Amino acid sequence: MRHFLCIGDCSTEELNELLDLSSSLKKLYKSGGRDVCLAGKVLAMVFEKPSLRTRISFQVAMTDLGGSAIFIRPEDVGGIGAREPIKDMARVLSRYVDGIMARTFAHNTVVELAKYATVPVINALTDLSHPCQAMADVLTIKEHIGRLTGVKVAFIGDGNNVAQSLAFAAAKLGMKLVVASPKGYELDWGVIEKTNAIKADSVSITNDPVKAVAGADVVYTDTWVSMGQEAEKKKRIKAFKGFQVNAELLKSAPAGVKIMHCLPAYRGLEITDDVVESPNSIIFDQSENRLHFQRALVKKLMS
Ligand code: CP
Ligand code: NVA
Repeated sequence: MRHFLCIGDCSTEELNELLDLSSSLKKLYKSGGRDVCLAGKVLAMVFEKPSLRTRISFQVAMTDLGGSAIFIRPEDVGGIGAREPIKDMARVLSRYVDGIMARTFAHNTVVELAKYATVPVINALTDLSHPCQAMADVLTIKEHIGRLTGVKVAFIGDGNNVAQSLAFAAAKLGMKLVVASPKGYELDWGVIEKTNAIKADSVSITNDPVKAVAGADVVYTDTWVSMGQEAEKKKRIKAFKGFQVNAELLKSAPAGVKIMHCLPAYRGLEITDDVVESPNSIIFDQSENRLHFQRALVKKLMS
């Protein structure tokens, strides 16, 4: 494993190894221990989009392991791929740092960085995928449900970057994902084909949220308007009517169903406040696990 761009590129063994390492480092740090395996190592963090969780959890993960991180915004370097080509940025950064993490609009930007970098590159969200989120999510599911095999996750909303990465995680780790979206906002057909080629019947889609939540172990949602789609906000809010995760929809799910959201949550749109705050919500455990997963990821890639 050299880079971490897409869950689909990793083997099931590698993913399980990362989950095990996340759990053992979580235990170590919770009990006051420390592992300085990245002493003196530096991670460059390139962000074309805003972030709370990803930025802070990666920075803390690097500090925890004895290393450090440098935050780079497009305006600091004259734009990503603007003042100089991405391939030059990749090679220059590789001469200074030990790893590059990037959150970009175009997925191809992280692919290009990885192609030319001589240090590991991590996808910290693109328009296409969010693999660090999905891995923190499966860690959370494992902790709360005790297994991944056969767990049914109903993703209600946009077939977006978060849904795509969950689909690959489901296929690789034995979960069943159903994505319920309005017509025109479904999970990409190519992703459905690829994931079902990895594991038959692991990923399916529907336009009926009620049908999707029946028998689910987890109900998951994300914003209807991802970063970069702000101009479509009005149209999207209209299109996603009927796809809110609320008490009424959850009447069709099993009583103990766990509620997940990658955050930030737009209360009153894709989810209601009472559902975010309900006892079945494991949303903040999910956020915490971003740190525990990424600590394991940078250790594996950079030490
Ligand atoms: N879930 C997530 O990636 O959050 P941020 O956008 O705040 O990093
Ligand atoms: N789908 C959202 C996820 C935010 C963490 C977005 O891309 O904005």
